[in-house]
Amino acid sequence: MDRLLDSLFPTAEEIPEAYRLGAPLEQRDYLVNGQLHHWQGPLATVRSPVWLKDADGDEQQVILGSAPLLDADTALGALDAAVHAYDKGRGAWPTMRVAERIRHVEGFLGRMREQREAVVKLLMWEIGKNLKDAEKEFDRTCDYIVDTIGALKELDRRSSRFELEQDTLGQIRRAPLGVALCMGPYNYPLNETFTTLIPALIMGNTVVFKPAKFGVLLIRPLLEAFRDSFPAGVINVIYGRGRETVSALMASGKVDVFAFIGTNKAASDLKKLHPRPHRLRAALGLDAKNPGIVLPEVDLDNAVSEALTGALSFNGQRCTALKILFVHEQVVDAFLEKFQTRLAALKPGMPWTPGVGLTPLPEPGKIDYLNGLVDDALGHGARVLNPGGGQSRGSFFYPALLYPVNPAMRVYHEEQFGPLVPVVPYRDLQTVIDYVLDSDFGQQLSLFGTNSKEIGLLVDTFANQVGRININAQCQRGPDTFPFNGRKNSAEGTLSVHDALRTFSIRTLVATRFQDANKQLISDIIRNRESSFLTTDYIF
Ligand code: G3H
Repeated sequence: MDRLLDSLFPTAEEIPEAYRLGAPLEQRDYLVNGQLHHWQGPLATVRSPVWLKDADGDEQQVILGSAPLLDADTALGALDAAVHAYDKGRGAWPTMRVAERIRHVEGFLGRMREQREAVVKLLMWEIGKNLKDAEKEFDRTCDYIVDTIGALKELDRRSSRFELEQDTLGQIRRAPLGVALCMGPYNYPLNETFTTLIPALIMGNTVVFKPAKFGVLLIRPLLEAFRDSFPAGVINVIYGRGRETVSALMASGKVDVFAFIGTNKAASDLKKLHPRPHRLRAALGLDAKNPGIVLPEVDLDNAVSEALTGALSFNGQRCTALKILFVHEQVVDAFLEKFQTRLAALKPGMPWTPGVGLTPLPEPGKIDYLNGLVDDALGHGARVLNPGGGQSRGSFFYPALLYPVNPAMRVYHEEQFGPLVPVVPYRDLQTVIDYVLDSDFGQQLSLFGTNSKEIGLLVDTFANQVGRININAQCQRGPDTFPFNGRKNSAEGTLSVHDALRTFSIRTLVATRFQDANKQLISDIIRNRESSFLTTDYIF
C-alpha cells in the first residue's frame, strides 16, 4: 500500500497534455440582470483534490484559482434582478408563450454543449470525478434538458384543450411560482443543480443560482451562455459563503421556491429564516443512509458486484450510495471474501487515469473525519478487513471494509459520504427491519435475494419507509424519468423529468359558464390570439 500511495500523485509533467490546466483561474465574474459583473472584493481560494509532486518529491495540493466571495448586498441585488424580471408574474419571461420559452432553453443547450470539454476538465480537477463519470455527468445533464423540453411539450399539448364539467368550461395550465433559489451539491455540481434550475426556468420562474461549495469554477464557462440565452434578470448567478449570501436571500422573504440539495440541517436552518413559510415551496434532496440488505438465499456474485459499485462509485460520495450493508450470517463470510477481491481490483489514481475507480476527495477535513469513524469502529470491536484499508495520503483515502459493525459505532448511524463500507452481520431479519423503521432517513434501500416470498414480504414492509426499493440492484437516482424522492429527513418533494415541471409550477384554471356569449368571447380570444394563456396552440 505504501508503494501505491507513494506513486499515487503525479508530477505536473506526468499529467496527459489534454487534461492539464494552465495558470490558476482568477474567476471574478458573476451574472446579475443580464450582465457579467467583475467582482472587486475578496475571493475564495479554490483548491483541487489533486496533489502534485514537485521536483523534490514533496506533494502539494493544487490551487486551481479563486472565486468571488460576494457580500449580502450583492446577493440581494441579484435577487432583486430576479424579482424585477418576474415582475409579480407580469414580466416578459413568466408571461411568454411556452413554445418561445422552450426556444430560449434550446438556445442555451446548444451553447452549453460547446463547453463540454472545459466543464468536464474542471469536474475532474475540482471534485476529483473520473473522466468517464465527468463526461457522463455532462451528457446526462444535456439529456435531462432535452427530456425536460419533451415533457413540457407533452404537458402543454395536454393543457391546450378545454374541458367541460358540470356546465363549466375551463382551461387548466401550469403557471410559474415566482423567484426560485437553486443550489446544488458538490458531488453533482452540474447535474443535480440543473435538474432544478432548468425546470424552474422553463416553467417561467426567474432564478438565482448559487453553485455548490466545490465545483464552482466549472460554472464559469456557462455564464455567457446563460447571459445570452435568457432575458435580463431571468437567471442570475452568484458566488460566496452560504451563511452570508443565502441567509440574506431567504430572510428577505422574496424567494418563492427553494431548491436545495445538501444536509437537512442546513435546509431547515435556511427555511426557518423565511418570514412567510407558507409562501415558500421547497424541493429538497437531503441526507441518506441507504442500507443494502443481503438475504441468505442470494446470488452472491451479483450482490457483491452491486454492493461494491453502490458503496464506492465516486468514492461513496453519492447521496444514493449504499452506506451500510446488512449481510445474513449464513453468507457473510463468502460475501466478505468476494467483496475484498473485487475491492482490491479497484484502481486508485487521478481522475484522468484510464480505468480509475478511486480518486482523491475534495472536502477539507474529510480524511480526519473518516479516520475518526474508523477509529471509533475499531474501538467498538470492528476490524478493517482489506489490506491497506483506511490508509491515506493527502486527500486520498483508500476504502476500508469495516466488520463486524454494530449499533455502538458512529458509522452505524452517520452518513459517511465517503469510501467506508460498514458491514453488519445479522441473524434475525427483524433487527434490519427495525434499523430502517427507526432511521431518521428514508431515501432508498437495496434488497439482495432470490426467495420470492421473502422479497415480496420485505417490499411490503419497506414500501412505507423509503422512496425506492431496489431489488438485486444498487440504489441510484436514474433513470431520470423515474421519481426521485425520500421520506423523513431525506427529501422534500419529488423530482424527475416530469415531476420537476410540476414542482416549479402551479395549476391555474380559467373557467366560465358554458353559455353562448362566453363561448363566443373565448373563441374570439383564441382566434385573435389575444392571450398567451388562453390558447389552443399545439406545440410539435
Ligand atoms: O448524490 C445523489 C445523486 O442524486 C445520486 O445520483 O444515483 O445517479 O449517482 P446517482
